[in-house]
Amino acid sequence: MDEKDLGADLASVLIPEGRLQDKIQELAAKVDADYAGQELLLVGVLKGAVMVMADLARALHSPVSMDWMAVSSYGSGTKSSGVVRILKDLDADIMGRHVLIVEDIVDSGLTLSWLVSNLRSRGPASLEICALLRKPDAIKTDIDVKYIGFDIPNEFVIGYGLDYAERYRNLPFVGTLAPHVYGGTTEPTAGEQQD
Ligand code: XMP
Ligand code: MG
Repeated sequence: MDEKDLGADLASVLIPEGRLQDKIQELAAKVDADYAGQELLLVGVLKGAVMVMADLARALHSPVSMDWMAVSSYGSGTKSSGVVRILKDLDADIMGRHVLIVEDIVDSGLTLSWLVSNLRSRGPASLEICALLRKPDAIKTDIDVKYIGFDIPNEFVIGYGLDYAERYRNLPFVGTLAPHVYGGTTEPTAGEQQD
């Protein structure tokens, strides 16, 4: 699906494909330099992180394994509450491993805060975060994202793994939705939402 097929659904292209790919290369170079050939476990958060995980993993020269978690968070209004449930846990033990969480976006940061304390309790040798996007509200949470791609405005974004009602994840760029698609509000309904 490209920009033309999207037609009127797309309000704007926020980050074109070329800039995303350049940034992934940049992030991978930093990760490679920091881990200096140590074996790394990339933990992707389903489903939004699929694209960044696939591209980052291929850009890395460090030896990597990949594992996945799926979580859901309970929210009301625009924000997740930080109450998180594991829908799919990691396949393997992370004790003594160098773990890098790979995320699509940090919004309130509550989901990641929960994930960090959950994974830290499992005794990894190190635990860091790589997130492609970060929204301004993330600054309110005391969360240290070591590798960050882009700081973006407080708008609902789609593409490159990010969905609206499970659509648009396959777009190769990050864009914003036209208001007519979401009826003028992107507020998720109260309840349990999967990333
Ligand atoms: P918190 O607020 O806990 O939530 O940092 C992070 C999760 O919420 C989703 N999210 C978005 N998904 N477009 C999306 O498609 C967005 O603009 C957006 N903002 C937050 C996302 O799954 C993220 O992991
Ligand atoms: Mg997510």
